[in-house]
Amino acid sequence: AKDPVRVLVTGAAGQIGYALVPMIARGAMLGPDQPVILHMLDIEPVAEALNGVKMELVDAAFPLLRGVVATTDAVEACKDVNIAIMVGGFPRKEGMERKDVMSRNVSIYKAQASALEQHASPNCKVLVVANPANTNALILKEFAPSIPEKNITCLTRLDHNRALGQISERLHVHVGDVKNVIIWGNHSSTQYPDVNHATVSTSTGQKSVRELVGDDNWLNTEFIATVQQRGAAIIKARKLSSALSAASSACDHIRDWVLGTPKGTWVSMGVYSDGSYGIQPGLIYSFPVTCEKGEWKIVQGLKIDEFSRGKLDATAKELIEEKALAYSCLN
Ligand code: NAI
Repeated sequence: AKDPVRVLVTGAAGQIGYALVPMIARGAMLGPDQPVILHMLDIEPVAEALNGVKMELVDAAFPLLRGVVATTDAVEACKDVNIAIMVGGFPRKEGMERKDVMSRNVSIYKAQASALEQHASPNCKVLVVANPANTNALILKEFAPSIPEKNITCLTRLDHNRALGQISERLHVHVGDVKNVIIWGNHSSTQYPDVNHATVSTSTGQKSVRELVGDDNWLNTEFIATVQQRGAAIIKARKLSSALSAASSACDHIRDWVLGTPKGTWVSMGVYSDGSYGIQPGLIYSFPVTCEKGEWKIVQGLKIDEFSRGKLDATAKELIEEKALAYSCLN
């Protein structure tokens, strides 16, 4: 039998946390034969609610769940964790300046970087979900220098899955038959959902999404805008932000990272740029990646047309500005 893997979820008393922890305990993240010990961190004002989530996990009697640590102490939460899903953060509230939100999150991610660096298992894989996800991940990386940069990522898989979903609806094909869309850049409305390399499996082989859709105008305008603004559309409909889809995508992100992507398939992950596709190193930027043996690799050699080039650069520009804002909050 396998040894249990310790998975940290911060912000575990929140919305995404509530959807995410049962998915992990059921094996959606690490597979149906991998036991887990859940570490749940949240802050003092919601300690009682956090304990309520722990009670429900016990009540659900998940066979794979070998233990639950529910705490408001970051050190205890990070102790020996193999995987850290960082969902906790300070949300933007009405009337707040961007800089104020950034400043709150920078201080949270700086502190949690140190706790992870000192107490997590040495090869801990980190996924930042909390917004601004790319920049929170960057701060975490800067303040946890002993964690390899390849171990620190942010979530853009939700955007990737949203793009697959839109193509599937448009073409009336199963979503599982659509692959190789790309989300480039920031997890924000400047992200670029790119279908130029995406395909659909059909009874007569792989077909290009662009050819099957046959409407470049829709792909270059409405499709892109729908994916970019899907988060806002969910808030409008639910009066709450995406939670089940965010949780499910976080499971997809870690599962593919740890267990590998299927042959011929790539996924989108926010990772530390190495300069690929002309994106300056030093940003956490969403790229197409394949994963094997627990390591991601940026897909190389894709052709980038002029339309795409402008979009890749625009979202990089926003990340450069966010990085500068984050650093100004540190001083
Ligand atoms: P929520 O407000 O329901 O939950 C956040 C939780 O974090 C709360 O329980 C809060 O007490 C906790 N928290 C705050 N400071 C903390 C700290 N220092 N340590 C530990 N926990 C702390 O929010 P929700 O809906 O669960 O969303 C969580 C985050 O995920 C938000 O930042 C949201 O913008 C982001 N998000 C990111 C997505 C992505 O695709 N990257 C998609 C959807 C949401």
